[in-house]
Amino acid sequence: MGQPAQPGAASQAVAPRGPGPAATAATSEPLLRLRGVSKHFGAVQALYGVDLDLPSAQVTALCGDNGAGKSVLTKSIAGIHQVDEGEFWWEGRQVHIRTPRDSAALGIETVYQDLALADNLDIVQNMFLGRERLRAGLLDEDSMERAAAETLAELRVTTVRSIRQPVATLSGGQRQAVAVAKAVMWNSKLVMLDEPTAALGVAQTRMVLDLILRLKDHGLAVMVISHNLNDVFEVADRVAVLRLGRMVAQGSIAEFDSQTVVDYMTTGVSDRRPGAGRGDPGRD
Ligand SMILES: Nc1ncnc2c1ncn2[C@@H]1O[C@H](COP(=O)(O)OP(=O)(O)OP(=O)(O)O)[C@@H](O)[C@H]1O
Ligand SMILES: [Mg+2]
Repeated sequence: MGQPAQPGAASQAVAPRGPGPAATAATSEPLLRLRGVSKHFGAVQALYGVDLDLPSAQVTALCGDNGAGKSVLTKSIAGIHQVDEGEFWWEGRQVHIRTPRDSAALGIETVYQDLALADNLDIVQNMFLGRERLRAGLLDEDSMERAAAETLAELRVTTVRSIRQPVATLSGGQRQAVAVAKAVMWNSKLVMLDEPTAALGVAQTRMVLDLILRLKDHGLAVMVISHNLNDVFEVADRVAVLRLGRMVAQGSIAEFDSQTVVDYMTTGVSDRRPGAGRGDPGRD
């Protein structure tokens, strides 16, 4: 208790660097814990000593204005960027994520709005891309088709006409659903979605938000980036706010309302939140 970025009392704004995961009871260990993560690109410092906890069976919304560092943080967890400094703890063990392969091997799946799928392939092919099932040296189409259909049904994705339809013919929301279903099928433990609803209409957004909740019901840790605070408040259990590369607030959704999140996003402080009001004293 009393450590930064823990639920409850410790989830104040701008948690000071804590004593580290070793002092935490195993039961309260989040699936992924980042401590002091920094990343720069040339003269641009994109992340400054970022702490982040992503617990299983919870949705964490990562909020922040344009350029705050959300995508850089996501790509650092996905192994696309190598961080300059900082620690990654996975299920209580310190790990190093240096490549997308490292990230995938841990059970981390990242879903991007446009980049996740191969347009010219159908749904089944996309879901098994690079991990195709073989039988007697041939692709086992029947078994792959069955597994893909079962996963989509389990997630109650019902609007897709045929799982043999090329992904290029799907709507934005359906593509998103296939990308999420792929993550579920491969037993991921953490799914990160970078702006999954940005380009979607009302009904498709609804479908993706429902999917996010189902991932959580399956026990997965979910991190979702969204500029839409309505979406955030609908699905998130936790909120983390980045501003200019710094984590300025993190805690249970119950401690925030929309205005508080906006305050943190724009100024780094909020006097509306109990126990908060002290922002980052540092210089920008
Ligand atoms: N590959 C890169 N090379 C150089 N600078 C980068 C690179 N990627 C990101 N940056 C810089 O890092 C900072 C954070 O960018 P990032 O893409 O993480 O922002 P974001 O929070 O995802 O914003 P948005 O809401 O607009 O997507 C920005 O100043 C950006 O210009
Ligand atoms: Mg981004």
